[in-house]
Amino acid sequence: MAVLVTGGTGFIGSHTCVELLERGYDVVIIDNLSNSSADVVDRIEKIAGRRPVFYEGDMLDKELLNSIFDRHEIDSVIHFAGLKAVGESVRIPVSYYRTNIGSTLNLIDAMKAHGCTRIVFSSSATVYDASDVSPLKEDALLGTSSPYGRTKLFIEQILRDECVADPSFTAILLRYFNPIGAHPSGLIGENPNGIPNNLLPYIVNVALGILPQLNVYGSDYPTPDGTGVRDYIHVCDLARGHIHALEYAATIKGADAINLGTGNGTSVLEIVHAFEKENSITIPYVLTDRRPGDNATTYADPGKANELLGWHAQYDIHDMVRDSWHFAQVFLKNSR
Ligand code: NAD
Ligand code: UFG
Repeated sequence: MAVLVTGGTGFIGSHTCVELLERGYDVVIIDNLSNSSADVVDRIEKIAGRRPVFYEGDMLDKELLNSIFDRHEIDSVIHFAGLKAVGESVRIPVSYYRTNIGSTLNLIDAMKAHGCTRIVFSSSATVYDASDVSPLKEDALLGTSSPYGRTKLFIEQILRDECVADPSFTAILLRYFNPIGAHPSGLIGENPNGIPNNLLPYIVNVALGILPQLNVYGSDYPTPDGTGVRDYIHVCDLARGHIHALEYAATIKGADAINLGTGNGTSVLEIVHAFEKENSITIPYVLTDRRPGDNATTYADPGKANELLGWHAQYDIHDMVRDSWHFAQVFLKNSR
């Protein structure tokens, strides 16, 4: 039996493939490489000592999806594939709806046609209403301000509806907080195209000298140092959470939403200072206006994941900034 990992050459998917292979699962990846590269498959093999089966192709290609299910005994699916940039989703909403929702609909059809009834889905903390107060539990108010966030809310609902329609179906909706860090080997990590939107990739680009300074978006928030607070989680902890979710999915029927976060809030300046201290590098920064759409503080209540999945985050902020920088040095610098 194999696990189909959609988007498996991406940032979170690649780390999850390593975790699966290391635990003895067979892994089949489908990815169209729109935000990753084929050599990630080699690097996954190098770390895990086993190679996943890789199909380069698009989730919107129904024939390909069905042929993958025909060729492999797929027991369960971890569904990462999709577009994920909040700002871009405001500019090209239809692409986001088509890709993220269309992919999921095709996937559910292919699963049902082949008797596969277990899915773990990459949702996001962005589904929580920004006005709700952290720590956020899974029953917090839902609401989101971007087309990207709406695709996550809609897909959660589609999967819930499918679980009602087909009582043999199980969907675990994992709501990730802020994944950062990289595999300690430095072989896989986050490698966004162009100027990064997210904090850690931006800091890494400043550290590499590609960008001159970090813009700290807002220093007048009601937080201890005035900068935004988020729940950063090491991507290896997140990857491990998916194995726990798969195991949990085998014991229940229906849909369940579960946060994957550490429960700790860290400010922008705390991240900058941790990066500087851990890596002995100065990060020049300027305090600028707030970024539209941002809120002051978001962090998880991870109690449900702790209790139901038996999962706890193990890495701290220092591990995260060290591993992000290590990956940048080993990989990005060499490939420039
Ligand atoms: P990523 O872009 O690194 O990985 C996504 C992968 O999906 C990429 O390899 C891309 O090539 C592939 N892909 C995109 N569209 C596809 C299509 N139509 N067909 C086949 N493959 C396709 O992103 P990531 O950070 O690893 O995120 C994985 C999932 O987690 C996404 O669904 C994302 O929305 C979600 N998520 C990410 C974050 C985060 O901050 N990274 C936070 C919350 C949720
Ligand atoms: N920030 C800066 N400067 C930058 C980039 C970010 O100060 O150059 C600040 C932001 O204002 C925020 C914090 O750093 O306070 C984190 O920002 P990110 O863009 O890294 O992350 P967000 O919390 O805004 O959003 C991320 C993902 C979303 C996801 C959300 C919740 O990008 O897709 O986490 O999971 F929905």
